[in-house]
Amino acid sequence: MSDDIITALTANENRLGMFAGRVRWYEEVGSTNDLVQSWADTGGEEGLAAVADAQTNGRGRLGRRWSSPPGAGIYLSVLLRPSRSVLPLLTLAAGVAVADAIQSATGLAVALKWPNDVCVETGTSRWLKLAGILAEAGTASSGANYAIVGMGINVRTAIYAPDVAPRATSVEAELGRVVDRSMLVVECLAALSSRYEQLKGYGEAGILSEWRRRASATLGRSIEFDADGRARRGVAQGIDESGALLVRTTDGVRRIFSGEVRWL
Ligand code: BTN
Repeated sequence: MSDDIITALTANENRLGMFAGRVRWYEEVGSTNDLVQSWADTGGEEGLAAVADAQTNGRGRLGRRWSSPPGAGIYLSVLLRPSRSVLPLLTLAAGVAVADAIQSATGLAVALKWPNDVCVETGTSRWLKLAGILAEAGTASSGANYAIVGMGINVRTAIYAPDVAPRATSVEAELGRVVDRSMLVVECLAALSSRYEQLKGYGEAGILSEWRRRASATLGRSIEFDADGRARRGVAQGIDESGALLVRTTDGVRRIFSGEVRWL
């Protein structure tokens, strides 16, 4: 993949915004998020990005593993240095960017499940996940703030961890044809760069409405979530200006700030 991706990145450099000339490719790493974190800790500049053909310790949200066999997916992380005002909606903006990238590079219709799982609908109300985002914010010993946005896209069908396998799919499985991973990487970086610029330019309202427009995997769905140490049920109604999910329950509307929701 190395040659293909370098060629694609070079040919599309004018579309990569802040990532132009800052993408490094690796055959295998532990986790691209961990690698980018080491750059953040040592003063790396905003816009540095790592893309790997395989990860031996790919990490998902909520402490899960992210299956990352060689050549089966896109494992991509970027280093950002956002202001405090940008942070709350950064993960939603990244979800919008990855959804757009998949759709524009492959034509596959995708939807977002709060906060930023990228899914496809297969049959009536049966959703499968094909991409996820692990966003991690921190402060280096120098005091500088950073955020790492890690994107994982299942491109080829692979063996997924047993806890996620029943709800996982890949871009190629859904399309029934081979997909060019290089162009998907280019589209992800181009879309993320432009959504990040939108957020920095006080475009919060635009990001929220773009997220809602792609949220058929969330809004109006009956879901389960964890609160007060137990599973609760309700219907997802919307997101508020901070990105929290609004769920109508028998006790009224609850705001969910973190964790995950499960379809019923
Ligand atoms: C999720 O659980 O949905 C988030 C998955 C994020 C996986 C990506 S792959 C690139 C980056 N490196 C990691 O270790 N994780 C993220």
